[in-house]
Amino acid sequence: MSENLGNWKRSCYCGDLTDSNTGSEVILMGWVQRRRDHGGLIFIDLRDREGFVQIVFNPAVNESSHENAHHIRAEFVLAIKGVVSKRPAGTENPALKTGEIEVLVKELKILNESETPPFLIDDETDVAESVRLKYRYLDLRKPSLQKNLILRHKVCKITRDYLCERHFLEIETPILTKSTPEGARDYLVPSRLNPGHFFALPQSPQLFKQILMVSGFDRYFQIVRCFRDEDLRSDRQPEFTQIDAEMSFVDREDVMGLMQGLIAEIFKNAVGIELGLPFPRITYTDAVGRYGLDNPDTRFGLELKDITAIVKDSGFKVFADAAKKGGIVKALNAKDCAEFSRKELDELTAVANSYGAKGLAWVKITGEGWQSPIAKFLTDDEKGKIVKSLDAKTGDLLLFGADIPKTVNTALGRVRLDLAKRLNLIPKDTFNLVWVTDFPLLEYDDEGKRFVAVHHPFTAPMDEDIEKLDTAPLEVRAKAYDLVLNGTEIGGGSIRIHRQDIQAMIFKKLGINEEDARQKFGFLLDALSFGAPPHGGIAFGLDRLVAILCGAESIRDVIAFPKTQKATCLMTDAPSPVDKKQLDELFLRLKMQQKEV
Ligand code: AMO
Ligand code: AMP
Repeated sequence: MSENLGNWKRSCYCGDLTDSNTGSEVILMGWVQRRRDHGGLIFIDLRDREGFVQIVFNPAVNESSHENAHHIRAEFVLAIKGVVSKRPAGTENPALKTGEIEVLVKELKILNESETPPFLIDDETDVAESVRLKYRYLDLRKPSLQKNLILRHKVCKITRDYLCERHFLEIETPILTKSTPEGARDYLVPSRLNPGHFFALPQSPQLFKQILMVSGFDRYFQIVRCFRDEDLRSDRQPEFTQIDAEMSFVDREDVMGLMQGLIAEIFKNAVGIELGLPFPRITYTDAVGRYGLDNPDTRFGLELKDITAIVKDSGFKVFADAAKKGGIVKALNAKDCAEFSRKELDELTAVANSYGAKGLAWVKITGEGWQSPIAKFLTDDEKGKIVKSLDAKTGDLLLFGADIPKTVNTALGRVRLDLAKRLNLIPKDTFNLVWVTDFPLLEYDDEGKRFVAVHHPFTAPMDEDIEKLDTAPLEVRAKAYDLVLNGTEIGGGSIRIHRQDIQAMIFKKLGINEEDARQKFGFLLDALSFGAPPHGGIAFGLDRLVAILCGAESIRDVIAFPKTQKATCLMTDAPSPVDKKQLDELFLRLKMQQKEV
């Protein structure tokens, strides 16, 4: 039987009690973590969002409360009146923040009972994620998830304070909108009032924030939900949150300077870590050259070396052919790994293969010389130069990739990350932030046989590179920047094109013809023609940033109600089929349905 609150008011959180409260009378409300019967006394760990405290039922203090306490089970909701008291010597629990004290219960109200939960609510119990997501409300009671979401709240608060102090205005932009070009598939929403027409959920507020600059708002920000229908991973959700900002009359330095200040403020005020400012920078070309990826994890070395010049005429056909076809040969030195087993080499090769490599040639430098399937194809001179270039010593393992640059860099870049994990090269509690700058404006899409924007089509080219748009389009650099934290891209942005003529030129280069451009972005082009100020901005992935601050493996652990890898919500069972009537109203018919009929 549950009771009502009556006139009881909570006096403080369970987890906030300390030694200094000893002797005071408190009213606590919370959930039962566990109950232990010790002869005459009953102990309960009572939990709320701030932590646990031990409460004690003694028949000598209140017999009926003690009697009722026998019926209490895990996850019952209790209210108690009691007195904070020091625990008897020897019974303190140093693992608990409140471990010095306990609350001697004078009165108990059972506010609600609970079914036996499907899993124990603590951080140690190993429960399948599908079960945790189905009962998300129970999983969210866990201390770790409570902590994560509280930290997320703090990050948002710090962000708002920081940006508001610097004259940013928080302005909302539409959720029901038109397709935006961030490169993923759109989520579509049919319009009942306009049959056959669809809204798209925004992949980002990109176009609206630019238009807000045209409208003269000067500094905008929004903590905003974005929607992208793409393949999901541990750091990708179909709906995620950006800290999105845009500024007028600025260059790259203004945006990067102000925004690295925000990140430093978040680190300082949310987790007490002082970051050195300014953050280091690396150009895109250097990042890819040294780390293989444009989101380099700079917490460890293991850098890639280009050895194309050394092996371009070598007897190993794989290397020579790659070089002849305009490709590259790169290598990395896994120090002291010459003892790697066949299985380990196969696993590394599988990593390379999964990123498109055709193989991963290897060399073990042993006391007896080179042990490798490719050793016989290389001359002593080539071997000597490779050893020198990679600073290789006896006991090292060298790994090679040969192909077009993109494949070699990506595959070896991933092998590098895999090796770092195997070899424990990644220092704990280190936060390496690095700006990646000077991205190319365009890349060539082999499948579509056309140029595509590396960031998005509104990113401005570097002024001095504009003339190369026709002669050497792939060499044109963008006024774009990404912020990378421990190998994760946590933000990206650029200075935008504010002139309609240059925007039209870029659309042309991207193969977006005038009609297409008008249909998709006509409103932006129009807006740009009415006195658009120079402007630029950035968006941070809030979920990714918070996940790293919390040490969470996946951004699912910092989102209250996340989706699965298959973009479903196991708690609500969304997405789910809808009534035929609803479809009819929207003038929609399902192909699947047609088949069934
Ligand atoms: P971009 O597409 O780089 O830029 O996105 C900005 C940041 O958002 C995060 N992010 C994601 N986080 C979780 N799940 C996803 N599916 C996901 N996709 C992206 C990343 C990324 O760095 N409009 C531009 C910004 C600008 O130019 O101002 C944009 O959206 O951390
Ligand atoms: P093969 O000539 O196919 O027997 O390959 C000899 C070695 O070279 C094997 O270890 C392969 O994994 C490796 N290899 C094959 N193709 C490539 C490539 N494109 N880049 C790097 N290594 C390769």
